[in-house]
This record gives sequence, structure tokens and C-alpha cells, in this order.
Amino acid sequence: PHTAVIIPAAGRGVRLGPGIPKALRLLNGVPILVHAVRAMAAARSVATVIVVAPSDGAEGVRALLDEHPPPRPVHVQVVPGGETRQESVRLGLAALPADADVVLVHDAARPLVPVDTVEAVAAAVRAGSPAVVPALPVTDTIKQIAAPGPGGGAPEPVTGTPDRSLLRAVQTPQGFAPDALLDAHERFAGLGGAEGASDDAGMVERLGLPVVLVPGHEEAFKVTRPLDLVLAEAVLARRRI
Ligand code: CTP
Ligand code: MG
Repeated sequence: PHTAVIIPAAGRGVRLGPGIPKALRLLNGVPILVHAVRAMAAARSVATVIVVAPSDGAEGVRALLDEHPPPRPVHVQVVPGGETRQESVRLGLAALPADADVVLVHDAARPLVPVDTVEAVAAAVRAGSPAVVPALPVTDTIKQIAAPGPGGGAPEPVTGTPDRSLLRAVQTPQGFAPDALLDAHERFAGLGGAEGASDDAGMVERLGLPVVLVPGHEEAFKVTRPLDLVLAEAVLARRRI
């Protein structure tokens, strides 16, 4: 079995605040991206990792990954990314090895995903699901609004409250049969904004293929806002004990 991983890492990390791109920020002295590559390389079926770097920073990312090689012999490739996450994944897919039988797409911004979660997603694809997504029940009640307001704290009218027991928050790595993800990206290339997909499985859903959820993990949370860095360092400190 050959699992190939695409790690989109080309975002700026606007919500984290000003500074270097999010994937290059340090967690306990090691770049977030290096943690993410190690987490994926820990899974035994993973033989290839394709890192999608900021388009003006691919050489620096290459040097960084040469400095911090993964603990297992894994082929690590670096390609330049695009303007949107979807475009970055598409550019990563162009480097997919032909013999991969599972492709995982994993946010660089989820550096602490446990290896068991990675293995469970890959195993479910290998068992025959074309698209597999790790997910957790949502803990906050979710309100629906008609459209985003003008911002600046202006009140937003509520239009509904979906039944929380039927909602799931999705994580990565999302796993796919390679043809399913390749077809989805070919079909929906170039769609942006509300038409674009904020996750890869959403595109495969639109092809009409079945998507299944498997249990996610709290430690697969996405580093998005400054408080998430505090949480990530606390998780790492706890792992060392
Ligand atoms: N990503 C990417 N290319 C983009 C945008 C995002 O590869 N053009 C990647 C990010 O690097 C990240 C993952 O997609 O690993 C999830 O995106 P997100 O958490 O939103 O990261 P950013 O887009 O960098 O953050 P923000 O939205 O706060 O700017
Ligand atoms: Mg983003």
C-alpha cells in the first residue's frame, strides 16, 4: 500500500495575526509545518509527502524540511501553492505519484494530529470508502444567519438553530481514493468564494460520491487564532511527560 499525503501550507495565517506565514511559526522551537510532516510520516503506510508552500517561499520551505527530516524514510516534495486552499491542494495533486492508492489531505495548521487518527482515515479508504473525514460532535450551539452582516459588531438577525446532535465539526487528514479527489478538483477548478469548497470532501460530495465520517481527535484541532498556539504548546508539554 502507498499512501501519499498533500499538506497545504501556503496560507498566510491572517487570523493568527501579523508575522511570518502560519506554517513557519514555531511551536516549542519547531515550525508548525515540521510538526505536521512528522505527524503524517509517523503513519506506516505513508511513503510520500507533498508540501504545498507559500508561492514565494518554496525554496525556504525545502531548506527547512531538509534541516528537519522526518523520522521514517518518506519522500518529501515541495511545490508552490496558490491563492486559495482549494487551488493549493490542486497544485499538490499535480505531483501525486501514479501508484498511490490512498491520498490524504492534511492542513499544516493541524500539527498535533495523533497517528491513530491518520491510520484510521487511510484504513477506511483502503476498505472501500472513496472519501473519509475525521469529525467530532460540535460543542457550541450553532446559529444560522441569512447573510454575513457588515461586521464591526453590528447585530446579526438569527434565522434558525440547527439540531446540534446532527452537526459534526470536520478535521483533517481527509482521505480519498485518488481518482475521486482528482475528478473533483478537475470538475470544480477555479470556483471561488461561496462556490468554492472549504474542505476537500465537500467537492467530492458535489460529485455525488458517498462521504463518511470517522471519529476525529481533540488534538487534531486547527491552529487558527493566537489562543490555539497556547493550547498547542500545552499539548506538546503534556506529551513530553
Ligand atoms: N492554505 C493553503 N493555501 C492557501 C490558503 C490556505 O495551502 N491559499 C492552507 C493553510 O496553510 C493551512 C490550511 O490551508 O494549512 C488551512 O487553512 P487556514 O487554517 O485557513 O490557514 P490560513 O488560510 O493560512 O489562515 P487564515 O485563514 O487565518 O489566513
Ligand atoms: Mg484560510
